[in-house]
Amino acid sequence: MPQDAKPSTHASAVSANDVTLLIFGASGDLAARKLIPALYHLVKDGFLSEKSLVLGVARREKTDEQFRNEMRQALVEHGRRRELDAELWDRFAPRLAYEQVDLTSPDQFDRLRSAVEERESNAGLSGRRVVYLATSPDLFLPSVEGLAAAGMLPDESNRDRLRVVFEKPFGDDLASARELSESLSGLLTEPQIYRIDHYLGKETVQNILLFRFGNAIFEPLLNRNQVDHVQITVAESQGLERGRGGYYDTSGALRDVLQNHVLQCLCLIAMEPPSMFGAESIRDEKLKVLQALAPGRTGAVDDWCVAGQYAAAEVSGERVRAYVDEDRVDDDSRTETYVAMEARIDNWRWAGVPFYLRTGKRLARRVTEIAVQFKLPPLHLFSTVECEGNMCDLVEARPNTLVFRIQPHESISLSCSAKRPGMQYQIQPVEMDFNYSESFEIDVPEAYERLLLDVMRGDSTLFTRTDELEAAWAFVDPVLEAWKSPRHRPELYPAGSWGPQAADDLLQRTGRQWRTPDED
Ligand code: BG6
Repeated sequence: MPQDAKPSTHASAVSANDVTLLIFGASGDLAARKLIPALYHLVKDGFLSEKSLVLGVARREKTDEQFRNEMRQALVEHGRRRELDAELWDRFAPRLAYEQVDLTSPDQFDRLRSAVEERESNAGLSGRRVVYLATSPDLFLPSVEGLAAAGMLPDESNRDRLRVVFEKPFGDDLASARELSESLSGLLTEPQIYRIDHYLGKETVQNILLFRFGNAIFEPLLNRNQVDHVQITVAESQGLERGRGGYYDTSGALRDVLQNHVLQCLCLIAMEPPSMFGAESIRDEKLKVLQALAPGRTGAVDDWCVAGQYAAAEVSGERVRAYVDEDRVDDDSRTETYVAMEARIDNWRWAGVPFYLRTGKRLARRVTEIAVQFKLPPLHLFSTVECEGNMCDLVEARPNTLVFRIQPHESISLSCSAKRPGMQYQIQPVEMDFNYSESFEIDVPEAYERLLLDVMRGDSTLFTRTDELEAAWAFVDPVLEAWKSPRHRPELYPAGSWGPQAADDLLQRTGRQWRTPDED
């Protein structure tokens, strides 16, 4: 969203410069890989002043100096350009500090409070705080309870002086998400809660709204009269990152990516135009999509939803191990590393249009895209050819497809039919492309940069509201329930492929097929 977008109705006019950011779980991977690099770039781009304070909080004993050294190393490894600007680091480092706190011990929060107050007073900060819970989910509630016990939750008239960011997963089904929200509701108000879905911070994801509602020509086409179907793909070529087996084996692709990232993309491509560009209006429209979301077929879950798990295979000349052989994964695990489904949106705009959703690990390529496939022209007046060099073949007519490539090589492209030069009327598919790196000569900011800045500025547009989250869980819950059956086993697919056969069958029964996303 543009900088001057209308902020959340609950947003304060506070600048990002008068905020103390406390990162709970600061020794973890997320802080090192994403949060610190994002903050460093915010300093570089002038979004954080000299005054700002970033306080790492974790259980391990560490001095400020040790924490700074670790974060310096993190920047070298994970910064946008994998390089450190010494002068910038010298400006950033003094804002980093560390406090040792065991988040499961409420009595330690008093010490945290005194330390924060002292540091804030030295820095001339007014005590407006953002607490980022980069912890395991079982520490979400104890962390907020600890803040409450130490009197760190502002009173009613000053609520906006504290915002709390929750990483995913927020619950692992509808019941647990509700339970957590209910427990938190006694401590925090909805406007203080920022549930992060980092996909919403990606430039290309934000551009979906701008592209749809900032142009007059595309929006009238996005409906059941023109669209044949929509495909949303979040494919990863990686397997499990080191140390993630324990979490992932209890989660799986449905909870880890589909319930959040894929459904958020679906909301943005399918939602109605909001009446104004503000957090609540946009989230109201997204909510309506989630509430209208339904299985693509009536009947058993297996009729519209497929689970897969990667098996060992040779990929680019290297032996890749099976999911069940990954560290901290059960030998007999039934966890899905791939999920594909046919969904539909029961509303006026989309009735009858299938939405095919898929995500998986160890697939052929890393690619995230939303592809809107239009209907074919009603009459085939021309033959369609596909040529490689001088060799041309007659092929079936190709539908127009509008593709939002979210990553890598961010772009928006529209495939059309053009006359192939020659003495006959022959169609050749061509692409009209808008490519980010060609159109804008700027480094595309990382998702966390945008999201961290938004929390500090108090703009909740790109964060998931409680009712949205619950509607997303309500949609996937029946699948989770069905997969509890001892008879359920994900279908194996070779690492490096595009997933299990059953996923192809899901589309083939209606004569459709999954796209094979291009290399770039
Ligand atoms: C995270 C999931 O939310 O998103 C990971 O937990 C997944 O399993 C990641 O790899 C994908 O994000 P991105 O930005 O790399 O597409």
